[in-house]
Amino acid sequence: MSGDVADGRHPSGVDIDRPSAARVYDALLGGSANFAADRALARQMLTAEPHAGRWAQANRAFLRRAVDFLLDEGVRQFVDLGSGLPTVGNVHEIVHAADPDGRVVYVDIDPVAVAHGQSLLAGDDRAAMVQADIRDVNAILADPATQDLIDPDQPVGVLAVAVLHFVADDPARILAGFRSVAAPGSHLVVSHLTTPDEMSAATVGVVAQYNTRTGTPLTFRSRAQVADLFAGWRLLEPGVVPVDAWWPEPGDLEAPGAHPRVPIWAGVGRLPYTR
Ligand SMILES: C[S@@+](CC[C@H](N)C(=O)[O-])C[C@H]1O[C@@H](n2cnc3c(N)ncnc32)[C@H](O)[C@@H]1O
Repeated sequence: MSGDVADGRHPSGVDIDRPSAARVYDALLGGSANFAADRALARQMLTAEPHAGRWAQANRAFLRRAVDFLLDEGVRQFVDLGSGLPTVGNVHEIVHAADPDGRVVYVDIDPVAVAHGQSLLAGDDRAAMVQADIRDVNAILADPATQDLIDPDQPVGVLAVAVLHFVADDPARILAGFRSVAAPGSHLVVSHLTTPDEMSAATVGVVAQYNTRTGTPLTFRSRAQVADLFAGWRLLEPGVVPVDAWWPEPGDLEAPGAHPRVPIWAGVGRLPYTR
């Protein structure tokens, strides 16, 4: 990872006094690509809800399991929407461990995340980082990196992990945009924060802090609303479940009841292999 954040340098135009979604998440994961304001908010969140770091890790573990699953299904190219900062277990590292020729396009709106991603991926001709708003599907599809790396005739893994709760209006339109150009056998991976009635009072407080401070408010969606995001895709077993309950692996399992449930839904869908 470059030292842009650690050594105080950062892309111009970045307000380092205002926490950002990408960098607070990085701080919750124990990463180093964040500023004092991000760490301060992450600390406040952890004080109010000590499980918040575990949720970020559980979400990250789901992302890894889902990418492994897609690789087993033969998917070799991925578009990671709202990918965040490069951190441990990046998608391209998982993909390239399975197939050195696998392709990954990362997309994020955060200039610091993008600067880090571009620095990390410099010289890698099978992965790229694009700065874009995921609501602008056409811009992402037309980006030279997407055009270069993603073969429209081959199945693609569309990853929308912990990002659609930042989209207030019509996330289904975004997913329909990618679905309309995805080859048979493509997959959609989603994780999404649940509704306040499913959360503890402490968690609701943490989310309120986050909403006020970052300027990227969260939109909550119920399990049924998250399931609706798979319209046009065949939702695969076990359906939409808490993120830590999606095909957990032995290392990811915790004793039942040891902790409150992770308030994030997760699921994977597939387009039929033939049109
Ligand atoms: C919680 S992080 C999730 C990172 C990664 N997907 C994961 O699950 O580990 C959410 C990311 O979404 C990005 N994001 C939020 N709204 C976005 C938008 N409209 N377009 C692109 N990226 C967005 C944020 O900058 C942040 O990096």
